[in-house]
Amino acid sequence: KVIHVVLSGGVGSRLWPLSRKERPKQYLPIINEQSLFQLCANRNRTVTDELIVVGNCDNYLLSRKDLEASGIDNYFEIIEAIPRNTAAAIAFAAFSVSPHDILFITPADHLISGQGEYELSVKEAIKLAEKGFLVTFGLKPTKPETGFGYIEYSENDVISFREKPDLETAAFFVESGKFLWNSGMFCFKASVYLEELKKFQPAVFEKAMNAWNERNGSYLPKIESAEIPSVSVDYAVMEHSDKIKVIPASFEWSDLGSFGALWEYYEQNSGNEHLFLNKNLLLKEGNKRIEVVGLEGIIVIETKDAIMILPKERTQDVKLVYERIEREC
Ligand code: GDD
Ligand code: MG
Repeated sequence: KVIHVVLSGGVGSRLWPLSRKERPKQYLPIINEQSLFQLCANRNRTVTDELIVVGNCDNYLLSRKDLEASGIDNYFEIIEAIPRNTAAAIAFAAFSVSPHDILFITPADHLISGQGEYELSVKEAIKLAEKGFLVTFGLKPTKPETGFGYIEYSENDVISFREKPDLETAAFFVESGKFLWNSGMFCFKASVYLEELKKFQPAVFEKAMNAWNERNGSYLPKIESAEIPSVSVDYAVMEHSDKIKVIPASFEWSDLGSFGALWEYYEQNSGNEHLFLNKNLLLKEGNKRIEVVGLEGIIVIETKDAIMILPKERTQDVKLVYERIEREC
């Protein structure tokens, strides 16, 4: 059995003020009427047999609403009391299935086009996962992005995995031509993931198991969850395991992680010209008129209760604003 696991616990902090605590990025209809979460659930129906949504107590109602709108009513929910990052979120999904089941893990908030290519890649990954590998999906890097993981590869073999390198290292990786970006999607047998997690991060494994055993239906407990070390699957397992494989992917992918990524997306896809004013990007939810004179490469985001203005080069720093503001309230 192949089970699609959607990780939907993120807050989309680099898209503030579009993305808010009560309506994170994955539930926004950024591209068309469907939210990224809905697009994700629909895209994987043809390649998987079942669906597990790992979200949290702040957003599971948003997930339910989106799934209902897509006519999906048969799925399993795992509801985290507090987010403890992706190593633990994936462990919960793995605990909930039988050891031989194949898990296909996807972030809820990416944009993919080329469904045919995508399905071929996923099928290839499932075959490798059945053989006991932890399969990643790699994309040709186009710039030294520091927010991604880098996979040094030779065909399907992975030589090394480096999560979020600094700018200088990322530039070196891109220039070498030997690295792919990690897409953040993974495919493996539940048992293989748990074995590797136990080997490299025994504390995450044990504390996650503890919390899982104390769950109440779909709901994980707060006290036990707080003890789980917060570490991503990339640092916890992918950087250490020697069972990693990669599928060099040919579908189009964007993590839409920042306004910079949105800028690129809007620029490359026709129908979005109205979002640009001279050489600036304007994103409006409200109805204020925005004019910009004498500036280029500026992004202005206007929502009903906030305005944010920044140069295109600083879109990674929006996270700092989110952390200062949204955490307070
Ligand atoms: N349920 C749950 N609980 N989901 C979570 C949690 C959590 O505690 N933390 C994050 N997620 C979800 C996010 O919503 C997102 O869909 C996905 O897991 C990945 O988390 P991010 O926080 O977005 O990771 P990242 O973007 O920094 O890095 C990952 O993705 C990159 C590609 O976009 C890594 O896998 C990188 O290696 C990769 O390049
Ligand atoms: Mg991300």
